[in-house]
Amino acid sequence: MKLIDYLKKANKQGWAIGQFNISNLETLKAIIQASKKLKSPVIIGTSEGESSFIGLNEVVALVRSFRKKGVSVFLNLDHGKTFDYIKEAVDAGYDSVHFDGSRLPFKENISTTKKVLAYCRKRGVQVEGEVGRIEGSSTVLKKAPESLMTDPKEAEIFVKETKVNSLAISIGSFHGIRSSGVNPEINLVRLKEINNKIKNTPLVLHGGSGIPRANIKKAVKLGISKININTELRLAYTLNLEKVLMGGKEIVPYKYMPKVIKEVQKIVEEKIILFESKNKSV
Ligand code: G3H
Ligand code: ZN
Repeated sequence: MKLIDYLKKANKQGWAIGQFNISNLETLKAIIQASKKLKSPVIIGTSEGESSFIGLNEVVALVRSFRKKGVSVFLNLDHGKTFDYIKEAVDAGYDSVHFDGSRLPFKENISTTKKVLAYCRKRGVQVEGEVGRIEGSSTVLKKAPESLMTDPKEAEIFVKETKVNSLAISIGSFHGIRSSGVNPEINLVRLKEINNKIKNTPLVLHGGSGIPRANIKKAVKLGISKININTELRLAYTLNLEKVLMGGKEIVPYKYMPKVIKEVQKIVEEKIILFESKNKSV
C-alpha cells in the first residue's frame, strides 16, 4: 500500500501514522524493529540537516532495503525549505516531501507549494504543505517558544488552491521539549475548527515530543493522521549512549549499540501504541 493510502485510511479510521526522524543507522534500526514487531507502518523523517549528514541517496537506499524485506516504511523530507533541495530529494527517490513555506508570505507559500506539487505529482511523490508556523528546534529548550497558530480560513484556502496531500498545522505545539520534560497541551478547539473546514485532508502534528498522552489521543480522533517525533528519540539515543560508554571499557560499537537501539525502539513502540497504528501494516 502507498503512503497516501495509509494516510487516507488513518484519517478515515481515526488513527495516526508516526514520522520518526533519524540522523543515523542506529535510530533507523530501532524504528524498523518497532515497526516489524508491532506491524505498524512508519515514516522515516529527515530534515535538510539530517539528510545532508546521512546523504540523500544513502538514506533512500537504506529505507528501500528495509521495504524490500516487507516493512511498511516510507521516507519523507521534513521541513524542506527550498524548491532546489526538495528537487534533490525527489530525484534521489524520496516517497514524500514536506514543503515548509511557513515563513513566506501566504500567497508565496501557496505559489511555491504549487510548484513543488507540479514537480512531485509527475514523479509519484506526495506533498505535505504547511500553514501557520511551528517554532523551536528538536532539543531540550530552556523556554517554550510561541508558535503562530494556523488560521482555519487560511488552511481552507491553501488546501483548495494547492490540493496538497496532507497539511501540517500549528495548534500550540513546538519543536523540542521543555527542560521539565513535559510540554503544554495542544489546542483541540483550534484543531476542530481546522478539521471542520478541510475534513478529508489528513492533518499533520509537528513537535509531537512531550505532548501529554491524553491530549494526543484526542487530537488523533479530531483529524490528526500523522505525528512527527524527533526530540524524544534524540534524547533516548544520546542519554543511553552516554550511559553505555561510561559503564565500561567496551569499545566495539556493535556490542554496545544494541542496548542503545533497544531504548530508542521502546519509545517508538510506545508512540505506535499511542497513535493506534499497531497492526495497521498491510
Ligand atoms: O518535524 C519534526 C517534528 O515536528 C519533531 O518535533 O522534535 O518536538 O518531536 P519534536
Ligand atoms: Zn516539524
